[in-house]
Parts: sequence; structure tokens; C-alpha cells
Amino acid sequence: MEKKVIFSGIQPSGKLTLGNYIGAVANWVKLQDEYDCYYCVVDLHAMTQYQVPKDLRRQTLEAMAVYLACGLDPEKNTLFIQSHVPAHAEAAWLMSTMTYFGELSRMTQFKDKSSRQSENINAGLFTYPVLMACDILLYQADLVPVGSDQKQHVEITRDIAERFNNRYSETFKIPEVYIPKVGARIMSLQEPTKKMSKSDENENAIIYLLDPPEVIKKKFKRAVTDSIGKVQLSDDQPGIKNLISIYSVCRNMTPEEVVEKYKNEGYGVFKDAVADAVIEVLKPVQDRFHELMNNKAYLEEVYKAGAEKAERTARKTLRKMYKKVGFIPR
Ligand code: TYM
Repeated sequence: MEKKVIFSGIQPSGKLTLGNYIGAVANWVKLQDEYDCYYCVVDLHAMTQYQVPKDLRRQTLEAMAVYLACGLDPEKNTLFIQSHVPAHAEAAWLMSTMTYFGELSRMTQFKDKSSRQSENINAGLFTYPVLMACDILLYQADLVPVGSDQKQHVEITRDIAERFNNRYSETFKIPEVYIPKVGARIMSLQEPTKKMSKSDENENAIIYLLDPPEVIKKKFKRAVTDSIGKVQLSDDQPGIKNLISIYSVCRNMTPEEVVEKYKNEGYGVFKDAVADAVIEVLKPVQDRFHELMNNKAYLEEVYKAGAEKAERTARKTLRKMYKKVGFIPR
């Protein structure tokens, strides 16, 4: 039987965070044996914010190295860079003619980002979900493993695919979103009602995957909690709830088990334990990352082979799309 297909991606728009790891990559690693997986560094998407060219180049390569360092095996997964497969941009134009202004206007990420970058509300920021839909649909993905912030984008992908299928006959598989039970939304360490985001200006709010141990310790020590003083799962304690999620994922325990273990400890002890758990998980990733960044030839080999394989699959779907809408083949 053919394996089911997975597609997911990360924008190389900054340094990757613990949120990206727990919400996305850590789950991708668990899925790699069971599924035929495509994992992409979505550089086209990153352009919706201004990127300094040399930084974008470095961040794209770093994201690829992080994929490998986290344990994604290039023999089992197709790891590639979005701009290497032009079918994504080509499909996006066509699909943008089948996506409505109204539905794109309702996207919460668009609303969020346009309020944060009011000086650069570019057309790409608005049509971003169309490109994302094409990423997914070109590979006929069954499943899209993402953090909960991307759920709405997967829903619009389904709507666009169904619209195309209804208008032109069955062409796309309708993908399902796959959101982890714990860690789908890792929160800022400074404002725990906000998502931990690579674009946050306050560095203390974010754990970067490449933060050294002493920095991780310090950031957790400073993490905002509450005056209740009890390690428990309560909506009135978003900071503690977030720390429980992080610990729970890193130590492979349920949140309830974590509470049981720390319910009689003070926040100081708990924060130290969370920091140690994160440091332990990230240490091997960081070691491997630094090795990989010293081996650019290997990285190139991986993303070139990935692009070739991705290109074949994506082209096949794009050809089908073009034919169905009535474009004349060359
Ligand atoms: P991006 O680059 O913002 O984030 C990459 C992945 O990390 C998850 N994530 C989080 N999960 C939990 N807690 C957090 N604080 C946190 N921050 C980020 C995101 O949910 C995502 O899974 N539009 C996408 C990239 C994309 C994509 C795709 C994803 C482009 N095409 C096709 C899936 C399929 C994005 O901006 O992710």
C-alpha cells in the first residue's frame, strides 16, 4: 500500500524557536517512518516581510540544517527549499484567481501581521494563504502537521481545493490538519497570553533553538508567572501552564504527570527543571547543527536532491491543473 503524504514548512524569516520545534519539527520526526513526507523551507513566504538578502540566505541554510539536526532523515523525507521548485509560485497565481478577497480578509494571521507591519502591508502578505495552499496541494498531501496558529490556513486550503475539484472535476486530495495534543501553541515567556514568535522584539520572551544553556536557564528564570504560587493547570496561570506544556513535551510526560511531580515545589525549582529539560533536548540538536553548518557541501547535496524529487511530484500536479483549466500544453 502507498504511504500517505505529509507536507509542512517553516519560514526562514528569523532564528527558529522552541515553538517551531515543539509545535512542528519534533512531530515531523515522529511521522517520518509512517508517511511519505515533504518538508520545505518556505523562502517565498518569508518575503512577505522585508529580508536582508544575506540574512535570508543564511537563515534558509540554517533552517535546512535544523531540519537535519532535529533528526529528519534525508533518505526518508524530501527536504527542499521552496524557491527551488517554481511550480509553487506558478500554481499560486492560478489558485489566486479562485480565492476570494473576502475569505483572505478573514485570515487572522493577515490581520495580525498587517497591524504589526503597517508600513508594509504588501499584496503577498494578503495572498500568502494561497501560496501555502499550493505548497500542500501540489503534493496531494493527506496531512499537514503544524502548530495551532496555522489551522485556519489549512482550512482555507481545503476550501480552495474543494472549489477547484467541484469546478473542474476531482484533482486534489483534501488535506487534514494535524495538531499536537500538547505544545500546539507555545507561549511567550514574557507575555504568556501571546504566542512565542520569532518576530517578537523581546528576546527574553523566546527560547531560540540555538540558545546556549546559560541563556536558556536565564530566560526561564525570568519567565513571567503569577502570584498564586502553585504548579497546577489553570487558565488563570497561563505562564505556568506554558511551562508545564514545555516540560511535558521535553520529558515525554502528560501535563497531569508533570503537575503531580511538581505540585509541592516552588516556581524557582520548577523553572530550573524546565530549563534543564529543554537544555537536554536541545543539546544534541545544537551539536549536530554546528557540524552541519560546517559541511555546506552536504547541505547542498540534500537540498538539491530534495528539489529534484519535489519538482517531479509538483510538476505532475501542476500539469494536471493547467490541463483541467484549459491551458494548451506546450
Ligand atoms: P512559521 O514559520 O510561522 O512556523 C513554522 C511552524 O511552527 C509552528 N509554530 C508554533 N507551534 C507552537 N507554538 C508556537 N509558539 C509556534 N510558533 C510557530 C507553526 O504552527 C508552524 O507549524 N505559514 C507557515 C509556513 C508554511 C506552511 C506551508 C506550513 C508555508 N507553507 C505549508 C504548512 C504547510 C508559517 O508561517 O509557519
